[in-house]
Amino acid sequence: MLYIRFLKPPGIVRDHKDVFIKSLFAVTSDFGDQLCAQELSLVACLSAKTDGRIVLQTTLRWSPEIRCLPVVFDITGLSLPWPVRVCISPDSGTQSTQFAYRGGICDLPRILLAWSDVLDLHKGIKNAAKTVERRFRLGNGKTFSIWEDTGESIARHLWYVKSSAFHSFCSQSYSRDAGVALAAFLDFDWAVDDPKLPLLVEHLVKSAGKRLQVLELGCGCGIVGISLANIVPNCEVLLTDMPEAEEIVQKNIACTTPAERSALSFVALDWEKQLPEGIRERDVDLILVADCIYNPDSSPALVQTILALVSYSPRALLVLAVKFRHPSEKVFFKLMRDNGFVTEDHASLLSSGDDNDHDPEFVRIYLLRLGQPGVTQQSDA
Ligand SMILES: C[S@@+](CC[C@H](N)C(=O)[O-])C[C@H]1O[C@@H](n2cnc3c(N)ncnc32)[C@H](O)[C@@H]1O
Repeated sequence: MLYIRFLKPPGIVRDHKDVFIKSLFAVTSDFGDQLCAQELSLVACLSAKTDGRIVLQTTLRWSPEIRCLPVVFDITGLSLPWPVRVCISPDSGTQSTQFAYRGGICDLPRILLAWSDVLDLHKGIKNAAKTVERRFRLGNGKTFSIWEDTGESIARHLWYVKSSAFHSFCSQSYSRDAGVALAAFLDFDWAVDDPKLPLLVEHLVKSAGKRLQVLELGCGCGIVGISLANIVPNCEVLLTDMPEAEEIVQKNIACTTPAERSALSFVALDWEKQLPEGIRERDVDLILVADCIYNPDSSPALVQTILALVSYSPRALLVLAVKFRHPSEKVFFKLMRDNGFVTEDHASLLSSGDDNDHDPEFVRIYLLRLGQPGVTQQSDA
């Protein structure tokens, strides 16, 4: 998947008598460490925040040799319906990223479009905040938003992934392939007659009789748990991450309307510490973990947290989404096996490029559970 990222959020710039709205963006991989190496036709729109009306629009061309693209709207002499926002999207004209199914396949979006935060001359906001909104459209037509924090608070929480082959800075509040893919996959498997992971759907259907209790570890900006709460009725989804994630997650919770009788909340939960009060003895049916095992140093703490959760809910199903980036990530699977977990099923989704891609990348989704006598383990990583 490709991600539109604002390198410079939109700002109002005066040049003598002329006034412009200018910004700079790039099309990158999920970790932002690779630039898009394909030709892309894109559209940038300046829209009114209140009714979404497009005020100005321009087409842009991304090509493999460029590193960033400027977007410039000349607003000299225009009376704009402040507040306004900039959206950069594929040229198909959609303003939300569609989760789609094609011939029984869960089709992952190719490009994740981005909406800037607002500019509002009436309120003196001449530079948009460093947050972006990504909008997703589920198979049922419902749309939800995920805000990502790309500013200061991210810089404070950079992770350095220790491996000679993979040096990358990973921040907590960006959407990434494994999370987006799991969100799309949940939407897909819930809707189709012939789900890829029937055990997962069996668990989700439980909510018809009993309220499904879901807990997400390392939720980042919350895309997976928020999608689930939008898709599945009668579920209670508890999003957890480090305390620093709370602000952006609460913002995302506040701007969504879950499915009927479903609810979302956030609690800070650090894998390096004991489970917080109220979670220790919480009944959990489903544990979601997306894109959390790429730092092998934190895998022991993550596994201990999962063990603490299943000590109270031994039949809880763990749904793990991984895009393997380095062999050291397999430490997590070894630790899980050593602690009695078995992989009950798994599925793979193609996450990069098109069908002709020579170097395809996959997101893998695993269902793990504490082993029971008679259950044979499937091969995992
Ligand atoms: C790559 S992000 C994945 C975010 C989200 N699951 C997704 O797929 O979009 C990894 C997440 O793990 C969280 N994390 C890392 N160490 C943690 C710890 N010790 N306790 C709790 N969360 C942690 C980070 O804050 C970050 O949000």
